Amino acid sequence: MCGIVGYVGRGEVVPVLLEGLRSLEYRGYDSSGIAVHTGEALRVVKKAGRIANLERALNAHPLSGRCGIGHTRWATHGVATDLNAHPFLSQSGTFAVVHNGILTNYRALASDLVSQGVTFSSDTDSEAIAHLIERLYEGDVLSAIRSAAERLEGSYALAVLSLYEPNVIYGVRKDSPLVIGRGKEGFSLCSDISGIFDICDAYCPLGNGEIVRLRSEGAERYDAEGRERPISYLTRETEDCLGGQYAEDRMLSEIREIPRALSLGSEHFPRGALRRLLVGTGEDVLLLGCGSAYHAGLVFRAAMRELCGVEVRAEIASELLTARVPVDERTLVIALSQSGETADTLRAAERAKERGAHLLSVCNVRASSLVRLSDDALVTRCGRECAVAATKSYVAQVQALLQICLEYADIMGKITAEKLDVFRRELDALPAKAAHLIGEEGRMAALASRVKGAKAVFYLGRGLDYAAAREGSLKLKEVSYLFSEAYPSGELKHGTLALMEHGVYGVLVATDPALTEKNAATIAEITCRGASAVVIASESVAPHLPAECLLTVPDAPPLFSPILSSIVMQQLAYFVAKARGCDPDRPRNLAKSVTVE
Ligand code: G6P
Repeated sequence: MCGIVGYVGRGEVVPVLLEGLRSLEYRGYDSSGIAVHTGEALRVVKKAGRIANLERALNAHPLSGRCGIGHTRWATHGVATDLNAHPFLSQSGTFAVVHNGILTNYRALASDLVSQGVTFSSDTDSEAIAHLIERLYEGDVLSAIRSAAERLEGSYALAVLSLYEPNVIYGVRKDSPLVIGRGKEGFSLCSDISGIFDICDAYCPLGNGEIVRLRSEGAERYDAEGRERPISYLTRETEDCLGGQYAEDRMLSEIREIPRALSLGSEHFPRGALRRLLVGTGEDVLLLGCGSAYHAGLVFRAAMRELCGVEVRAEIASELLTARVPVDERTLVIALSQSGETADTLRAAERAKERGAHLLSVCNVRASSLVRLSDDALVTRCGRECAVAATKSYVAQVQALLQICLEYADIMGKITAEKLDVFRRELDALPAKAAHLIGEEGRMAALASRVKGAKAVFYLGRGLDYAAAREGSLKLKEVSYLFSEAYPSGELKHGTLALMEHGVYGVLVATDPALTEKNAATIAEITCRGASAVVIASESVAPHLPAECLLTVPDAPPLFSPILSSIVMQQLAYFVAKARGCDPDRPRNLAKSVTVE
């Protein structure tokens, strides 16, 4: 799982590829590499570790050419070493390949190739593709790539260079994304538009099975049967870039962008369409997502219980693919994804559509695969999110979902017009409350220096606070590597309490005044075992809670508190990561967008 980029144009290709790889680093950063057609040979430079390592290697061994491909890797098969980095050259050096995806039949392919005398230099599934194309080449590169693609099982987006065609790049995909870009100086291809944003004016996402041939002066697209297809380009969208003034780390900048993201809300909130959908599908609503997006779905589920007394389902996307989750034409599936490219979410959404469900996506990227697949989309406008940990995009998703929840309550007659009005005003007040919390970020440094040595950190809460705590715990573990889990507070005494001792922290989310007594009891349960309690409480609740360490958030109806408490938990995670010397933007072993199942 990885990011790929290719470019053929009038200028030097190496700086273009490096720029593309930097933008794609969010898809993986275990290793990176590029291959260039020098006019005489295919040359490869590749290095384990971050792109800076590749740049150093290129300074030592410069490459020059106008046509090349690049790759940034998130390891699936084979550890992150120089040898396992892409691109891969075929045995005789006539083809170079970069791959995003996973081949499920690579063992069979590899043993077949080995029996034909091929020697493998890496432990990856991807290397087989380069050898296969070379073996199938009989004078026509396009046919060789098509024949190889027919033999591949699993998912792939490939960029291919051939020694036989000096100024040409080929691309082909199945179940992993690939877009082609048209610019003034040449043509490019990339896993997503972000990697070629600055060098293309128009782009075209490729369909499954399609193959493209790019030259500096033009592009040709073929379907899986080899018929040429016209290319209809889309105009490149200007992203809502909220930032500009970056803090030391993108994660911190992106947290600071939350008030602005909240005030921009979602693009064209489709109230009419949503009404038709909700009325049409009755009460069978199923949320899908992975990671933070799934956690946003948990907030929606808790909000629907709280406000509408309605039970909606929230499923981790990969579970929908595995378990027999009931979905049919009466189900409204809401797929949640910041990137719109997460493989599990895409596959699960496709599966739901096949079963007749109506698909509404909440996504941050209009040009994404998920939005294209959906019947309707709510596109959040929080701008590009670069740090691996979702921060502003999670908050924007929760905001969009709470709007849906209010709409649902209105349509189904679960709320009076007056109450709805109060809630809508509360939604409007969120940016200012979020801005207040950004102004308070300084209080985290001292706390982080205590929490950084924790043996474990348990996040606790009830109802909506518990839904928020799930995301808080994920944030901390992914960026600081501290052990952390989240539990409903009431469950503490059924097992986890056994772990409470000196050096362990309990982070209790306690924003609902109706739960103050219960929350006070939870604090006592934690602290009387010698563990430390950090309590995130709303202003009116805080004076009633006996905690040594209180982090207050502005008062808001319980429905909206997850937005505010999440900001505090994101800040805590960031500052703990910094205190522990971790890179919060690029946590180890993770990728921003996981494009393999
Ligand atoms: C990865 C990221 C998470 C993210 C998840 C879903 O695991 O590290 O931060 O929440 O993917 O991503 P999506 O783009 O679908 O929201």
